[in-house]
Amino acid sequence: MKFRGPVRPGDRLHDRATVVEKRLSSKGDRGVVTARHEIVNQNGDVPITIDVVSLIAGSNLRSMIVDSTRSVGLSPIAGSVRHIREPTEWTTMEWVPPKPRLQGGDVALRPFRASDAAAVASACRDPDILRFTFMKDGLTEAEAGEWIETGNERWPKGHLRFAVVDAHDDHLLGQVGLNFNPRHVSAEAHYWVAASERGRGVASRALSLLIDWGLSKGIERVFLVIHPENNPSNRLAARLGFIREGVLRSYEPIKGDRPDLVSWSLLPSDPRPWR
Ligand SMILES: CC(C)(COP(=O)(O)OP(=O)(O)OC[C@H]1O[C@@H](n2cnc3c(N)ncnc32)[C@H](O)[C@@H]1OP(=O)(O)O)[C@@H](O)C(=O)NCCC(=O)NCCS
Repeated sequence: MKFRGPVRPGDRLHDRATVVEKRLSSKGDRGVVTARHEIVNQNGDVPITIDVVSLIAGSNLRSMIVDSTRSVGLSPIAGSVRHIREPTEWTTMEWVPPKPRLQGGDVALRPFRASDAAAVASACRDPDILRFTFMKDGLTEAEAGEWIETGNERWPKGHLRFAVVDAHDDHLLGQVGLNFNPRHVSAEAHYWVAASERGRGVASRALSLLIDWGLSKGIERVFLVIHPENNPSNRLAARLGFIREGVLRSYEPIKGDRPDLVSWSLLPSDPRPWR
């Protein structure tokens, strides 16, 4: 049995069963049939798969060779799913960059490469990126290379950082990412777009791809914390369907300050305007 995502109370589950293997046993006197049961929820996601191995003997053996589906009588087994996984169980899943890359319109998300270092260093000379994100002031190309390398190493721990690139020529437009918190089963999204690429929907598109992917992996809350004076980012949050929750006073240290930050969240059940 493999757990691939969450099963929540109220989910409507059904079983999609297919035969994935049929062969004769080593002595040749029995048939071995493996049926894969995929438990599908109302969104078409498959949170659980179960491989059921059946041994077939006697008169059924002939029919297995002809039609294994009939001979093993693939009966729905969704009713036997009694166990709802606790978050601590399923959040131990591995985080790996999706393949193929995420893409929508002219924008694609892929892991950063060492060759992006110069573009990262150049984008991070922008005063708004310096003021409103954790990117370092005066980031050199070598430091950007280290930022890329460290970021890629931290993927398995739930620090999910993507380069936002032009889907046609792969040039760097910006970055988006999710910092996953396994205990809360939630993730903070972070992002910046190079100044020259702003105002044409790059962040909107990149975040919609990121959020759809993150929620499909089982994240139960995506949130943003945004400086009250960061008007483009607060407008972006509202436009993407995030709900404004209030102001978190003196939220966290950033570059020698502890500003109040506006808190926004999006839940799997919230409407996503781009869908
Ligand atoms: C906030 C930020 C990421 C927005 O990036 P962006 O790519 O310009 O965002 P978008 O293009 O999706 O939206 C910006 C504007 O373009 C408009 N726009 C133009 N064409 C658009 C399109 N095709 N689709 C969506 N929006 C479009 C939007 O309506 C929006 O207008 P508004 O700000 O008046 O509401 C960017 O300003 C930035 O990097 N700022 C500095 C770093 C930062 O603040 N990061 C966030 C920290 S919380």
